[in-house]
Amino acid sequence: MRNIPGSPVEGGDFFDRPEILSRLHRLLENQSNVLLTAPRRVGKTSVILRLCEQCRQQGWKAVFFNVEGCGDELAFAEKLVSELHRADLNPDAMTRMALGFQRIRAALKGMKFGAGIDVEMGDPEDPECGTLGRAIESALRKVDEDGQMVLIAIDELPELLLTLSKQDHGSLRVERLLHWLRELRQTYRRRIRWVFLGSIGLDGFVEGRNLGKTINDLTPASLGALTPEEADRFLETLGNDNNLPIPPEIRALIVERVGWPLPHHLQVMFHALVDSGATEATTETLKEAFAFLLRPENLSQFDTWRQRLDEQFATEDAVAAKDILKHLCQHTDGRSRRQILNALMSARPDADPGKVEDQLARLLLILQRDGYLLESDGRYSFRSFLLREFWNRREVR
Ligand SMILES: Nc1ncnc2c1ncn2[C@@H]1O[C@H](COP(=O)(O)OP(=O)(O)O)[C@@H](O)[C@H]1O
Ligand SMILES: [Mg+2]
Repeated sequence: MRNIPGSPVEGGDFFDRPEILSRLHRLLENQSNVLLTAPRRVGKTSVILRLCEQCRQQGWKAVFFNVEGCGDELAFAEKLVSELHRADLNPDAMTRMALGFQRIRAALKGMKFGAGIDVEMGDPEDPECGTLGRAIESALRKVDEDGQMVLIAIDELPELLLTLSKQDHGSLRVERLLHWLRELRQTYRRRIRWVFLGSIGLDGFVEGRNLGKTINDLTPASLGALTPEEADRFLETLGNDNNLPIPPEIRALIVERVGWPLPHHLQVMFHALVDSGATEATTETLKEAFAFLLRPENLSQFDTWRQRLDEQFATEDAVAAKDILKHLCQHTDGRSRRQILNALMSARPDADPGKVEDQLARLLLILQRDGYLLESDGRYSFRSFLLREFWNRREVR
């Protein structure tokens, strides 16, 4: 297992997560389609890459792609079709469709695509493929009839929906896309299984827009941190495989300092140990590694946690969420809801307390769901001590 603190891990770099993997296999065998949501960096992509690999070993075709960078439905369709092609599923139809997509792009002449999944394909010879959506349907029908089990895993779908929702006719297009995906799942359910994954909750996104019914056929699954035993084994393996064995008491210390044993945080801690020049894992070198990790030039790896607040929330909520986190990063023992409310109110003396209280309730829920915060006995605190330290250095000191 190599020390990879960033991109998804595969093969021998993947630390096994048998529980979630067997649950996912069970669900797929029972004809379920799955929505896997978890905070970022918990290891979703890595788990699904492994799931695809295991499905392929069982004779399935498995297709995995990330739609985060897709700017519109056409780009989404292009990705889907090119991945189906790559998996050797109905290559003739896929090639024909790719040509159709090129025609649409050419007709747009650089203008923005605003028509949604119902856009005309402009191929009068093939009425089955009248629109973008129908063209893909017809390709999937052939795949479904083909006799082979197929897994289609789509990473970061909520990101694409968020992008679409900010464009012209955004709400309508999001709704159409979600309905269309649901129809696909229902119609071709014999051999095609779907897994959607995302870090911002798709459930929250659709509920906020009254679109719950478009995903209520998906079985929710989630992924958490490692158990303390797993975290211990993780560190043991990482140390042994990378010429820096970590004794049991130091492993325990790392887990304690990290506070929330995500594979990513353990990888980052180990990386800091190596990078800070440690030749042995001791209490002393660990202390140095921790200080090294929190140096300004190394803090950027945590910055996505801050940036995504601006992407995810409208301005007022983003400001309030940052105020909450800024307040909480100064209190290692956590704060009660009342105390947080007071902190928010003191920054907004003219605001309506009832409204701020509602906003706080809403934001606390989301911040817990997204892995920022933890509630215990009515007190809210940072879930990850690393992230708390980062926040404190970035926003307070
Ligand atoms: N099973 C695993 N084994 C080893 N490292 C992992 C594992 N899962 C996650 N990681 C660590 O976490 C980082 C992020 O993993 P990733 O799968 O991209 O998470 P997510 O998709 O939830 O953001 C990886 O670069 C790696 O450092
Ligand atoms: Mg991911």
